[in-house]
Amino acid sequence: METVLITVDKKVDKEKIYSQAVDLLNQGEVVAFPTETVYGLGAVATDDEAVKKIYEAKGRPSDNPLIVHIGTIEEVSDYVEEVPEKAKKLMERFWPGPLTLIMKAKPDVLAKSVTAGLPTVGIRMPDHEVALELLRTLKKPLAAPSANRSGKPSPTKAEHVYEDLKGRIPLILDGGTTGIGIESTVLDVTVDPPVILRPGGVTKEMLEAEIGEVAAPSLKEQQLESTPKAPGMKYTHYAPEAPVYLIERNREKIEKTVRELQNKGHRVALLAPSNYASIPADYFFPFGEEEDRKQMAANLYDALRACDKTDATIILATTTSTEGVGAAIMNRLHKAAGGKFI
Ligand code: TXA
Ligand code: MG
Repeated sequence: METVLITVDKKVDKEKIYSQAVDLLNQGEVVAFPTETVYGLGAVATDDEAVKKIYEAKGRPSDNPLIVHIGTIEEVSDYVEEVPEKAKKLMERFWPGPLTLIMKAKPDVLAKSVTAGLPTVGIRMPDHEVALELLRTLKKPLAAPSANRSGKPSPTKAEHVYEDLKGRIPLILDGGTTGIGIESTVLDVTVDPPVILRPGGVTKEMLEAEIGEVAAPSLKEQQLESTPKAPGMKYTHYAPEAPVYLIERNREKIEKTVRELQNKGHRVALLAPSNYASIPADYFFPFGEEEDRKQMAANLYDALRACDKTDATIILATTTSTEGVGAAIMNRLHKAAGGKFI
């Protein structure tokens, strides 16, 4: 299959592009599109055959459910049994935006493979012009995971989608680099207090300011049988080819570690804030300014993918505090590193 990549910007005939994407989706095909977090790979969420093509193109395990994307808040009640009061507040405050709410699904409305057999469904309204225009032209919900091959970092650029899914999907809408750079916060509102299943752009602090207590299980608590989980969080994610080790932001320690590794014959890639560029690693990929966690989130996946393009044999990534969006960054870094620390 040939994969077409179309840039959606002000200069082009947008109507023609959206109708081409909508036609493909209505024919049961998959289409990749940008959101404010990462690129998604969409299929009509009520079409089981189409949704199965998402799993196939990604190589995704079939027990990992997909997020349903909608273009208006009103549509939520078409797909869920009941919208808890706290969920209503959160939608008013954070939609469109990087917050996925897990609620009880209405039976037999969405395709079976969307929910992977669970009684619940994750829904969000993305905050991106291209995603919203696509949803509103289509007038149907889109099931969409991140548009990467399973196990690769989520795509923050159309080129990343092309690298991973070329020949496997018919169309990519290129809306430039995504703003936030890590996936949405997944919040389970079927329990009280609600539980963060995956930290993201909407932080615990922001949620609590709106609805009071929110649980954010620690790494240890996540191991417990009784803690609610996102099925996807058990898989090793976002792992580049070379092993990743986390290291604290301490210039001397980083310098010493780089030297020791090089003496052992390693080629070292360093992911760190831009002011660490002078450390003589073999490759350096800046996250942005020190302490600017927004930039760090936006650059993280691109930097991990860039490491894959080098012949580095080991990757060192500096840690950050878990304040605000730092919780999401550390969650992803932990996964990329498989928990390994220097
Ligand atoms: O920002 C995002 O959320 C991006 C963009 C494209 O919207 N999407 C995304 O989807 O990251 P995906 O499939 O890569 O991650 C969805 C996560 C998985 O960990 C999945 O297990 C979890 O949400 N999830 C989906 N439905 C769920 C449910 N009913 N219960 C618990 N977890 C669920
Ligand atoms: Mg994903």
